Amino acid sequence: MASLPVPAHTAADRRPARRRRKFDLHENPSPVRNRIRCMDALDGMRTLPEVCIPLTVTSPPFDSIRSYGGHRWDHETFTALARELWRVTMPGGIVCWNAQDQIAKGGQTGTSFRQALYFMGLGFRLHNTLLIEKQVTRGINPVRYGVTPEFVFVFSKGRPRSINLIRDKPNKHAGKLLRYSTRDRAGVISTTKKVLTKPFGARPSIWRYTTGGRATATDRYAFEHPALMPEALARDLILSWSHPLDVVLDPLAGAATTCKAALLADRYYLGFEVHEPYHRLAERRLSDAHDAYRRRLLDESGS
Ligand SMILES: C[S@@+](CC[C@H](N)C(=O)[O-])C[C@H]1O[C@@H](n2cnc3c(N)ncnc32)[C@H](O)[C@@H]1O
Repeated sequence: MASLPVPAHTAADRRPARRRRKFDLHENPSPVRNRIRCMDALDGMRTLPEVCIPLTVTSPPFDSIRSYGGHRWDHETFTALARELWRVTMPGGIVCWNAQDQIAKGGQTGTSFRQALYFMGLGFRLHNTLLIEKQVTRGINPVRYGVTPEFVFVFSKGRPRSINLIRDKPNKHAGKLLRYSTRDRAGVISTTKKVLTKPFGARPSIWRYTTGGRATATDRYAFEHPALMPEALARDLILSWSHPLDVVLDPLAGAATTCKAALLADRYYLGFEVHEPYHRLAERRLSDAHDAYRRRLLDESGS
């Protein structure tokens, strides 16, 4: 199985895996690593100690668009899960919450916004809002522009402990010396000294992905799950807001996209998935990912 291409990134992430081991071991208090358990997210979360998770990357059911085996998912379940996320997230830890509204009764449900405000009410900072634009081929809507926006809300518990912005936006003026101007509250403009423009800058808050087939998941059988997060999206969130050897949690793990991306980015993973067929799928996918990861380590060590 091919591993995901990794974008130009931080020095820590470019080091070979065995040299990364010195990073962060002392910062990684989670007792549970590299496990995906078939259980309800709330029951699973309650087995975890407080403040042990540096990063969560997860995608809840989007309203009632899919039934996922009929397991309960409603506002009460969401609020209980959000409270557990606050409890287990370590200071400076991050929760990436991928959400999209359903269209029901003629309008957007507003669920994603309500969820974001609920997280903020618990004490999380809304550190970043990312708009996820997928190249979609299906249905043109006769009464709305485009598709319902899909977000990743990036919440932090206090000041984020790890920020590695992905710098893959080519700069139009690369190599040129340019002045930048800013306007203060009174409207007065001041200019900076000339600054050399680098070849690449941090990407904007709209993240674009091609989806479908291998662009979404490199294992074909993963599509037995009806709502996969693109592997590249999970990877980019993990690289942006964690260090190598951190634990990445996905309490609504589905087919284990987050867990797989965490492993391939030299992080540990922990996942819960309540629906047995999806859990079996997740285990198969992770077993293949471990094989690929082992092969990569062997290649890197030249044996
Ligand atoms: C949007 S999907 C996540 C897909 C995942 N990001 C992936 O790429 O495979 C949401 C998942 O949450 C699971 N789920 C729903 N309620 C749950 C609960 N209470 N506990 C654990 N998992 C739950 C569903 O079965 C479904 O697989």
